Amino acid sequence: MEVSGEQKKKVIFSGIQPSGDLTIGNYLGALKNWVKLQNEYDCYFCVVDLHAITVRQEPKDLRRRTLEVLSIYIAAGIDPEKNTMFIQSHVPAHSEASWLLNCYTYVGELSRMTQFKDKSKKYEESVAAGLLNYPVLMAADILLYQTDLVPVGVDQKQHLELTRDLATRFNHAYSPTFVIPEPYIPKAGAKIMDLQEPTKKMSKSSDNPNSFILMMDPPEVIRKKIARAVTDSLGVVRYSDEQPGVKNLMTILSVITGMTPEEIEAKYEGQGYAQFKLDVAEAIVKELEPIQAKVKELLDDKTYLENIYKAGAGKANYVATKTLRKMQKKIGFIPVAK
Ligand code: TYM
Repeated sequence: MEVSGEQKKKVIFSGIQPSGDLTIGNYLGALKNWVKLQNEYDCYFCVVDLHAITVRQEPKDLRRRTLEVLSIYIAAGIDPEKNTMFIQSHVPAHSEASWLLNCYTYVGELSRMTQFKDKSKKYEESVAAGLLNYPVLMAADILLYQTDLVPVGVDQKQHLELTRDLATRFNHAYSPTFVIPEPYIPKAGAKIMDLQEPTKKMSKSSDNPNSFILMMDPPEVIRKKIARAVTDSLGVVRYSDEQPGVKNLMTILSVITGMTPEEIEAKYEGQGYAQFKLDVAEAIVKELEPIQAKVKELLDDKTYLENIYKAGAGKANYVATKTLRKMQKKIGFIPVAK
């Protein structure tokens, strides 16, 4: 009976790009929720290395970060026994399904994506075609696993909408092939802001290291970055859009400690920002220290990591190839002769 219960679990798929060192934005907006959801769902957590090469990567950094991201998943609490963790490029169906879906996607809908518009401004002359097509690869990632739920930060919402549109389009063109996935965007922490420009999203690709906190930043660096975080001259700890810097620090504290913004306001009433900032820094340090220690341990055991991503790719390959074959058949391709 146990087994049939397991089979009925809904499916989660999510991933993080190894394109830069992970920030607490990635953690609070996505990974921390994966940890919470893992017991109720059949989960696929992918290190999306194919996505990372839409901008040029130094090969040795890409290799290092890919294993580091996997280690961070495990260290943050994703159980390798219960979840499928794998490296995207180990499952060729992602690239293949992405090509197929590209033929059902309009250039117009891709060029309207906010993230494409922002990034293409940044890279101007040398915008890779992969940057435009990137959301189609993301749709392939999700649809190949018949995913029900995709836990992400709010910046991925538009890509999820495209995924749903593509799935619906394909289903209508042929017959039901894909589950239409729903986004899971947390109420708090879905958009952690830049510490220096708190009206912008905190991003691992920012040029200013003071604007983000990395998952692997040592405690003294975290303390310094929080001390330097931009606030305002009002001197009141209040959860308000008029105080974006303070609001962001309150969000971070709230998501880590579970205190509500109201409780935080009450705690620091009449105290200015000094103690508040010290406490935010300590909360982050306390949250990250055990994760960092575990990551270091895991990175020293490459065989253990290899066993995890090997088993993950085995299971992912099986499930993804099944959906890919369905797509190919519906499109009209001749099945490979056995
Ligand atoms: P990526 O690698 O940019 O970010 C990974 C996850 O972290 C979330 N995130 C944030 N959340 C809150 N505040 C922030 N400042 C912040 N910055 C990042 C992102 O929303 C994301 O959930 N395209 C995706 C990766 C991807 C994917 C997928 C995700 C590829 N295929 C399939 C889900 C399903 C990306 O670039 O995320």
